Amino acid sequence: MGVWLISAMDRMEDMPTTMIRQLAAPDAAAFSALRREVTADDPVPMGLTLEEELTRPLGGFREQLSFPEPNAAFGAFIGSELVGTAAIAWTSKFASSRHKVTLWGTFVSPRYRRRGLARALVARAIARARANGVRRINLTVFLPNEPALQLYQSLGFVVCGAEPEAVRIGDTYHDGQFMSLLLNAD
Ligand SMILES: CC(C)(COP(=O)(O)OP(=O)(O)OC[C@H]1O[C@@H](n2cnc3c(N)ncnc32)[C@H](O)[C@@H]1OP(=O)(O)O)[C@@H](O)C(=O)NCCC(=O)NCCS
Repeated sequence: MGVWLISAMDRMEDMPTTMIRQLAAPDAAAFSALRREVTADDPVPMGLTLEEELTRPLGGFREQLSFPEPNAAFGAFIGSELVGTAAIAWTSKFASSRHKVTLWGTFVSPRYRRRGLARALVARAIARARANGVRRINLTVFLPNEPALQLYQSLGFVVCGAEPEAVRIGDTYHDGQFMSLLLNAD
């Protein structure tokens, strides 16, 4: 399980010991706490309400973080605190779908945004996919979410469709914007 120290190039020279590593089952409580903080700040990007998030048991997160390799969730830590994540998962064990992965779980604590954490985390997830011969990475952004759209576009993802009214938060329906990154056209 590799550990990356984030370089000053990522604009985090002001942050103490920022580090990215792969998450595992023992990180479930920290993962849940971060999800709750991000959802409390704004539920729309997470695609569910805070009340729904609060019902999710730690066991489910333990399982999610124990997905077999090469599936992986990466976490950014400031000191010992988990403050951001990004993950990739293969959607099927069958060869017919092994060329693609889903990017999920990209979020950063509102206390640590605009410091390059999401960019570094997603880059780490893309590197994992690339190292495993993945052709395409797909994801969904619940709208509106300009920060996420900008982040993914800056990394080469393009819009490739949408699900109308993908989620309902309170009385408002939000579309799901599909985005895709072609890593390897061969
Ligand atoms: C989207 C999110 C993950 C970005 O995290 P972050 O660590 O602040 O992002 P970074 O600092 O790495 O920024 C990388 C790029 O994202 C884009 N971006 C990030 N925040 C932005 C904002 N508020 N407005 C516009 N673009 C933004 C920019 O292109 C930025 O590059 P730049 O700083 O060189 O301009 C964060 O805002 C978040 O957690 N939002 C709530 C959850 C969410 O939306 N997750 C995505 C679900 S698909």
